[in-house]
Amino acid sequence: MRSAIRTRYGQAEVLKIAEVARPACSDDEVLVEVRAASLNPYDWHGMTGTPYITRMGSGWSKPKVPALGVDVSGVITAVGAGVSDFSVGDEVFGFADGAYAEFVAAKADALAHKPANTSFDDAAAVPVAALAALQGLRDQGKLQPGQHVLVNGASGGVGTYAIQLAKHLGATVTGVCSTANADLVRSLGADNVIDYTTEDFAAASSAYDVVLDNVGNRTMSAIKRCLAPNGCYVVVSGPKRTILGPLPHMLKAMVSFMFGSRRAAVFMTQRKRADLEFLAELLASGGLRSVVEAKYPLEQARMAMTHLATGRTKGKLVLQT
Ligand SMILES: NC(=O)c1ccc[n+]([C@@H]2O[C@H](COP(=O)([O-])OP(=O)(O)OC[C@H]3O[C@@H](n4cnc5c(N)ncnc54)[C@H](OP(=O)(O)O)[C@@H]3O)[C@@H](O)[C@H]2O)c1
Repeated sequence: MRSAIRTRYGQAEVLKIAEVARPACSDDEVLVEVRAASLNPYDWHGMTGTPYITRMGSGWSKPKVPALGVDVSGVITAVGAGVSDFSVGDEVFGFADGAYAEFVAAKADALAHKPANTSFDDAAAVPVAALAALQGLRDQGKLQPGQHVLVNGASGGVGTYAIQLAKHLGATVTGVCSTANADLVRSLGADNVIDYTTEDFAAASSAYDVVLDNVGNRTMSAIKRCLAPNGCYVVVSGPKRTILGPLPHMLKAMVSFMFGSRRAAVFMTQRKRADLEFLAELLASGGLRSVVEAKYPLEQARMAMTHLATGRTKGKLVLQT
């Protein structure tokens, strides 16, 4: 089968399409014939081997595993002996390491059934970005109806889902984006839009119950100033330093919010089937939609990754097999 792989770390030119063996699936896995896989900054980190600290797991001088990609949608073609809730022919979406390929083995508990009214492209866009938004707002930020949330980085993968999910949770939503993306963010349900090229979201005093930060470009004192007295700073990301990546920003948040009434939550998205099923219901009912800026055939994985690397994606990018 065809797979977009890399055998060394680097920018998009390290990606190549290779013929590799179709994966086998173990007892708790299913084999998925991939229809679409979406790109995440997580994949770019895996491709470049940055921040360097991640190489402790992925391999110091070269990647231990050549395959890339996590977000997938497709059709099940084989089922492991221990899997009872999926059958051959089921249309699914979820998490599967090595998703930039024609087939991928996926843990059954990291998948959900794809709603019939949702395209494979739109379903593949969901897993990492929408679960980050959901878990960040609901579980970390503990966002309640009637509260006011600010989403910094409202027009990217996480942000476009976060705006919609915050509205679903009953919040008033302010999205921060550039001028070109203001209409998109408003169309997703944001009550207010702050154009970061002309206005500083942190200039408001005690305005937000939750700040969901997908960028990490403000100081802790600026974030504290704009948070309500019992507000929560949810750190999804931080500046991408070469050696430690966003870790220093995350540590700063943990330490500087240790005292006082405001709190900070730093987290990594968990691959939970229950959350995928929750999002599937929302997709099915029309309460959530994916924004897919561009679709590329698998062969153009380099071009897609080059686009992602600009940091300017509107919503999500999808590879089609
Ligand atoms: N903690 C976790 O588990 C977790 C999970 C998922 C993602 N992440 C991280 O969260 C971050 C966001 O992920 P993503 O998938 O949303 O990335 P993305 O789709 O690549 O984000 C691109 C978007 O960021 C916007 N942006 C860039 N600079 C900005 C700024 N200064 N202010 C406001 N918006 C800005 C861009 O809009 P403009 O072109 O208008 O600037 C663009 O729409 C990444 O760093 C990712 O690694 C973490």
